Amino acid sequence: MTNMSKTNNARLPRAKGIDMATYYTPKECARKVKRIVLPPQNRQIVEEFITILGMKEKFVRHDVPIPNKVVMFGPPGTGKTLTAFYLAARLELPLILVRLDAIIHSHLGETASNIRKIFDYAKSSPCVLFLDEFDAVARTRENNDEVKEMARAVNTLLQCLDEFEGDSIFTAATNLEAELDPAIWRRFDTKMTYSLPDEERREEYISLLIGDFQHEEHVRLTASERLSGCSYADMEQIILKAKRKAIIEDLPLAASHINEACEEYRPQTIRYMS
Ligand SMILES: Nc1ncnc2c1ncn2[C@@H]1O[C@H](COP(=O)(O)OP(=O)(O)OP(=O)(O)O)[C@@H](O)[C@H]1O
Ligand SMILES: [Mg+2]
Repeated sequence: MTNMSKTNNARLPRAKGIDMATYYTPKECARKVKRIVLPPQNRQIVEEFITILGMKEKFVRHDVPIPNKVVMFGPPGTGKTLTAFYLAARLELPLILVRLDAIIHSHLGETASNIRKIFDYAKSSPCVLFLDEFDAVARTRENNDEVKEMARAVNTLLQCLDEFEGDSIFTAATNLEAELDPAIWRRFDTKMTYSLPDEERREEYISLLIGDFQHEEHVRLTASERLSGCSYADMEQIILKAKRKAIIEDLPLAASHINEACEEYRPQTIRYMS
């Protein structure tokens, strides 16, 4: 590893020199994903992925490559980053979280070499490498202002993806799949789509969020209706706010707490009928 500038992020030394990444142990990852809700299709993709990694020899014998590149796309707050933590927890690997926009803005002119450094790290020590805001580099070439710089970065990324092997997993997330370079897109063996929670998923998540907190009988159903159109992240904030109100009043969680919390929080995506 080359010399890297020190930053004040206490976690960084554990990432052995990658100054644009945060390192999470498998245990830390497991703690973060206790309340993950995965719609059936994504759960199936994840389970199959993990199953395959658990029977590598068989795949080698059949000469069938093992999947190791996952792209996740969908709206904010729907569980893309959380899924990367979940994979790391399940595979008992550390998560190396990289913000690509940070690489580009702080190291203009060195984007390609930074990308290579990150992949070199993943080659040398097994991990789940997670590149957030992936569209920042993988945007289709013609959309870029710094055309040459970004074209070089995209080419490096293509090369790194092609050469990516060993025990690490590469994961990337984006809100803007339409802007990903098609050449990059097709290099992913596993693609996961994220969307806002439907009714069933909302009820499941609300139950997890309420947990064993004392609540009135119909609060789950009211909350599920009221939070229609919210992301999981917004739902979490609103339920927490509602719980705080219930605690202040020393009352069980009620529909009125949810309604008040919702009005105060003003989720952008909310679409409730009056
Ligand atoms: N599917 C989910 N199940 C449980 N909790 C979720 C889910 N999605 C989001 N959350 C909650 O919202 C928080 C933010 O989610 P996450 O960071 O995974 O969103 P994201 O899809 O990566 O969004 P962005 O596009 O903004 O990066 C999580 O830490 C978690 O508390
Ligand atoms: Mg994210």
